[in-house]
Amino acid sequence: MTSDPLLALRPWETPEVTSWGRLPMNAVDRRSGAHSLDGDWRFQLLPAPDAPVGGAWSSSYVPGVWTMQSIPGTDDLPQYTNVRMPFAEFPPRSPAANPTGVYERTVDVPAEWAGRRIVLQVGAAESVLLVHVDGRPVGVSKDSHLAAEFDLSEVVRPGARATVRLTVVKWSDASHIEDQDQWWHGGISRSVLLYATDPLHLADVTVRASRDGELRVDCRVRDAGGALPAGWYVSGELDGHLLTQDGEFDRANAEDERVSAFLGEARLRATIPEVRTWNAETPELYGLTVRLHRPDGTVADTSYHRIGFRDVEVSGRDLLVNGERVYIRGVNRHDFHPLTGRTVSHDDLRADLVLLKRFGFNAIRTAHYPNYPALYDLADELGFYVVDEADIESHDHAHEIADDPRYLNAFVDRVSRMVLRDKNHPSVIIWSLGNESDYGANHDAAAGWTRRHDRTRPIQYEGAAKLDWAATDDASDIACPMYAPIEDCVAHALSGRQTRPLIQCEYSHAMGNSNGTLAEHWAAIESTPGLQGGFIWEFWDHGILQRVSDGRPAGRAGAGLYEGGVAAPGHRWAYGGDFGETIHDGAFIADGVVFPDRTPKPALYEHREIAAPVRLECFRHEGVVIGNHQHFRGLDWLSADWELALADGGTLTAPAELPDLRPGETAAVPVPFTLPPDGGEAWLTLRVTTARDEPWAPRGTVVCLPQVRLRAPAPASSTVAPDRGVEVDGDGLLVHPLLTAAPTLSLWRAPTDNDELGHMALRWRSWGLDRLVRKVVDVRRAHGRVTVLAEYAAEVGVVRHVQVLTPVEGGLRVEESAELPDGLDDVARVGSVFETVAGLDLMEWYGQGPWESYPDRAFGAPVGHHRVPVDTLFTPYLRPQESGGRHGVRHFTLSAPDATGLTVTLDEPRQVSVTRHRAEDLTAVGHHDELVRRAGCVVHIDAAHRGLGTASCGPDTSPSHLVAPGVHRWSWTLRVL
Ligand code: GAL
Ligand code: MG
Repeated sequence: MTSDPLLALRPWETPEVTSWGRLPMNAVDRRSGAHSLDGDWRFQLLPAPDAPVGGAWSSSYVPGVWTMQSIPGTDDLPQYTNVRMPFAEFPPRSPAANPTGVYERTVDVPAEWAGRRIVLQVGAAESVLLVHVDGRPVGVSKDSHLAAEFDLSEVVRPGARATVRLTVVKWSDASHIEDQDQWWHGGISRSVLLYATDPLHLADVTVRASRDGELRVDCRVRDAGGALPAGWYVSGELDGHLLTQDGEFDRANAEDERVSAFLGEARLRATIPEVRTWNAETPELYGLTVRLHRPDGTVADTSYHRIGFRDVEVSGRDLLVNGERVYIRGVNRHDFHPLTGRTVSHDDLRADLVLLKRFGFNAIRTAHYPNYPALYDLADELGFYVVDEADIESHDHAHEIADDPRYLNAFVDRVSRMVLRDKNHPSVIIWSLGNESDYGANHDAAAGWTRRHDRTRPIQYEGAAKLDWAATDDASDIACPMYAPIEDCVAHALSGRQTRPLIQCEYSHAMGNSNGTLAEHWAAIESTPGLQGGFIWEFWDHGILQRVSDGRPAGRAGAGLYEGGVAAPGHRWAYGGDFGETIHDGAFIADGVVFPDRTPKPALYEHREIAAPVRLECFRHEGVVIGNHQHFRGLDWLSADWELALADGGTLTAPAELPDLRPGETAAVPVPFTLPPDGGEAWLTLRVTTARDEPWAPRGTVVCLPQVRLRAPAPASSTVAPDRGVEVDGDGLLVHPLLTAAPTLSLWRAPTDNDELGHMALRWRSWGLDRLVRKVVDVRRAHGRVTVLAEYAAEVGVVRHVQVLTPVEGGLRVEESAELPDGLDDVARVGSVFETVAGLDLMEWYGQGPWESYPDRAFGAPVGHHRVPVDTLFTPYLRPQESGGRHGVRHFTLSAPDATGLTVTLDEPRQVSVTRHRAEDLTAVGHHDELVRRAGCVVHIDAAHRGLGTASCGPDTSPSHLVAPGVHRWSWTLRVL
């Protein structure tokens, strides 16, 4: 039996023990003036928490999880599971093999700290932290994503050296409520600090600042010596304006006999005239300094806060910010980094938020735990509405834990500590009780604490109120389902029984090539009272940079070994299973709107356009109608240019004058172009950019590209040239100097993650669509034209494919039809595929672009003339799959630097893709680094292409984007340049 009381407690399997010796959470910022204990610590990894310490020391960098650091002598690597726990033990048990990191270092305690209160702060440790100083037990903490503070005044001596030991146990009872869908790690993931205060100190500061300019600052004052000295007081300063202690409050306290003299509560009050209110569009902040004075007037302690004046309320089915029903254009965000796993810097966080702002997001759900403290400062500053979520997800054992009284303490502890830490941030508008933990009394207890403590914000919890109008009000003021189909949300809102705002906590799962139907979601949201938005799942693809040679995480040494979403040679983005884990959930961890290096995926451009603050409503005789779609801002922060893209004549530009519009207003403006009389298709785009530097975007950054069509296309024609003839081989395959593979029928795409997890790919494989064999049935020649009938035998019937090849002026026309039997209901695509000679490295097209787009993700890709190197058309999704498509292509050219090449004109706007990979190349590999580029181009021209949907987790595409059986016809003209 151990003599160490902390070990004797066995806190790793005692859920009732959430902490021991830990100071209460508070909102006083101690970062300035603190001593950083970050850096290399002595380290050893034990096989279990009660194993003896005594092996050789190596070292580990703090902050940083050991699973990412390839520390000599350790082999505990990252493991990814979604719902499943990585071990079999039931709560509250943890496995006997339980990696435990022992971190140790000496600390020189400054002599000038004599007489002061000395505090150790550990930013975050997962999942149980035990603290010893000079061998003496100091404390225990759980709650892996919040700081733990310990008073060391009694255990260290100023001017002397102390040995601090932090023991971190990886698996515990707490792991069962930290079963989030992400990598499992172990270690200290956030900074460690040591700081000192006067014995008389601010124990907490609570700020309430409302949109009418009312400010109330509640201070909690403590003295390390016990009783407070008579005569202390607080003062404050708000942007140079002095605040004095609220005498009313003091008198009320003095008269209230229940309040004893040493309670240590004081209040500052003020009314700010003409206050500049905070919202996500104009995040106005004020600087507040709170000072605690000793009886002689000298300052004992100070706390600085950046505060915002704003109100949040739920009124009926509306969530209101400053009285406005704001749309919630949100994303779920984890603290993730491809080199550190969990540890992020202020710069990382700023880069995340800047990118989100640039792509039209205004909200973040801190899935699924309190994020880095700096995230909230940045959200205040840059303007985001934050749903702050407590670190509770008991997914695998949700049902057992929600009502288990042994975990009651942990639920209340985690929610209350989050509220105590983050309550002063104007960005935080909603508290979330956690994720995927069923619903039980433990939630109601946490909700009850929160309602009493903070009456200024609503609470949400998906488990308590999905679309369920029978839900109790105790645990959720918001209906926040996940992945609800659009029609269910609309039906709920139209049912007459909806009682609260519907804001999906997760929707539009961004795994691989995804986010189909996002525009349909928003069309429904913006036209249905009661629907107010949602949070896309999720921001990050959590691919860890891995060395292929030894299979280890590259760690911090991997800095710079990636670009544009792709890992450098010899490296790859690891997902579940890549570290040799046997229990894992594969590529389900790669489901974000950005690559692991924060390179935006094409879906973000779709989102940017959907969120456009300025829209072109329609084209009328008097001009184009422009609308301001913001909630608070005018258009003066934007500037714009007109672009007119003519199908046959290039692009014209002209400066645009944005009208002076308040939110919700529209105005007609004249179109500055006269259309040329040739009758071709014409599209008008308003290129909207920032007019001056914004904190998140330099002047000239594109904000949106709204577009209207001014003129429809004229019917195309080509003159038949029967004198020239078309050459086909004995199998009826076109022979052409620029093609290395003749056009044949394709009904297959390399399955996307949605196709795989939605089981469509399974069906397509069972039909044999991935291995169709072409059999030529008949080849006829007449008047220089060749007609080829071929058959492709699928398991459920034969597909008849007819190709008519006709020589035309300058090239040849290919008219095709494919007849799909009824059994082939819902295939990936119907179209032609062919391959070109090497050297055609540039693609230019008129159609939607320039980024990747698909039939159900084509709202944000404007029609125009685009020009992109073939190598960059392809999107390197972590698990290779169909990608690189361009929607609505009217004509395209593939050319070599010497301007030779080919051009294809389509009968109508079609889905086209040009890549270096055949579908089977993509299907054959699991990681992008295994792909070998072909020298030529693989070209797909689709008569029909299935939508992407989001079936990897959530609804499939809408019925209008499915490919039906029956006859499909398409035609195209191929010319040599
Ligand atoms: C949700 C869950 C997320 C994530 C997502 C799928 O059910 O809340 O954490 O697992 O599904 O990627
Ligand atoms: Mg989960």
